[in-house]
Amino acid sequence: MNPSERYWITGAQGLIGSLLMQQIPDSIQVKVQAGQAEVIGITRDSLDLSDFDAISERWKSAPPTCVIHTAALSRVGDCNQNPDLAFHINTDLPEHLARLCQASGSRLVFFSTDLVFDGLKTEPYVETDEVKPVHVYAESKASAEDRVRHCENHLILRTSLNAGRNPSRRSGFVEEMKAAWIAGRTLDLFVDEYRCPIPASVTADGVWELALQDCRGTLHWVGSQLMSRFEIGATVAACFPELHPTVRAGTLRAYSGPPRCPHLNLDISKVSKLLSFEIPGFQEWVKQNQSQLADGD
Ligand SMILES: NC(=O)c1ccc[n+]([C@@H]2O[C@H](COP(=O)([O-])OP(=O)(O)OC[C@H]3O[C@@H](n4cnc5c(N)ncnc54)[C@H](OP(=O)(O)O)[C@@H]3O)[C@@H](O)[C@H]2O)c1
Repeated sequence: MNPSERYWITGAQGLIGSLLMQQIPDSIQVKVQAGQAEVIGITRDSLDLSDFDAISERWKSAPPTCVIHTAALSRVGDCNQNPDLAFHINTDLPEHLARLCQASGSRLVFFSTDLVFDGLKTEPYVETDEVKPVHVYAESKASAEDRVRHCENHLILRTSLNAGRNPSRRSGFVEEMKAAWIAGRTLDLFVDEYRCPIPASVTADGVWELALQDCRGTLHWVGSQLMSRFEIGATVAACFPELHPTVRAGTLRAYSGPPRCPHLNLDISKVSKLLSFEIPGFQEWVKQNQSQLADGD
C-alpha cells in the first residue's frame, strides 16, 4: 500500500529527533499499522544531509508530506570553528528542504533557536521582534528562518535549552554538565544570564501536536520559567547526587569573551493557545520527572 502520509524526522539520532521517533502520537501509529502512514527517521547513516543531490534523489522516489527538521550543527562552538559547514548545514540545507517542500506541497517544521535574539531586551521577546544574532550559530539559524519562509506551509519553532538524555550522548546541556562533573570539574554558571529551559520530551509531544495542525509561521517554543544559568545548573545537579556535582556562581560583569545573550525570555502565549497541555516550568517539571533525566545512569 502507498501511504498517504509520510513523515521525515531528520536528526533522528539527536536529542530531540530521537524523542520525536519514540513519541509518535497514537493517531499516527494507528495509520502506520494500517499502512496509511510512514514515519522515517533520517540519520547520517541513512542519508547524509550535506549531500543535497542525494536528498533530491531520495525525495523523488518517495516524497514526504511533512518534514520535521531537527538536524543541525547545533553547538555554538562547532559553528564558530567551522562557519562554512555551519551555514551549509544550518542555512543552505533547510533552504533546500523548503524548496522541495514547496514544490511538493509538503509541510516543513524547522527548529530555530532563542539565540536569534541578542538578549538585551528586558521584556519577553515576541515572535515579531527583530532578530539580532551575535555569533555564527545564531546567524546561520536567523538566515535559515528567512529561507524557510519560501515554503508556504512552514512552521518555525524557536526553542531554548532542551533538557533530556541523548542516546548518542554527544549533545544537550544535561550531558555536557554531567561530563564536567564526571571529570571532577566544578561548573561556573552565571547568575545573571537567563534562559527558559524546556524538557526535550515535552518538546517532542508539543512539536508532534503542532506538526499535525495547520498552523504556519513562527512560534516560540520554550519553557514557561525564566531561570538563570546558575539556577538551571543547580536544578540539574540535584538529579545526579552520585556524581557529587558542584556548581559555582559566576557573573557576566566579570566575563570578557565572545558575545553572550544575557536575557532570553521568550513569550509563549501564541503557541500556548494551540496546545492540549500547558508548557511546564523546568524546576517544577524536574521535581515530578527527575527519573527522565537520571534513569539508567
Ligand atoms: N537542544 C537544544 O538545547 C536546542 C536549543 C535551541 C535550538 N535547538 C535546535 O533544535 C534542533 C534539534 O536539536 P538537538 O539538540 O536535537 O540537536 P542534536 O542532538 O545535535 O542533533 C542534531 C542531529 O543532526 C544530525 N546531523 C548533523 N549533520 C548531519 C548530516 N550532514 N546528515 C545527517 N544528519 C546530520 C546529527 O547527526 P550526528 O549525531 O551523526 O552528528 C544529530 O543527530 C537543532 O536544529 C538545534 O539547533 C536545540
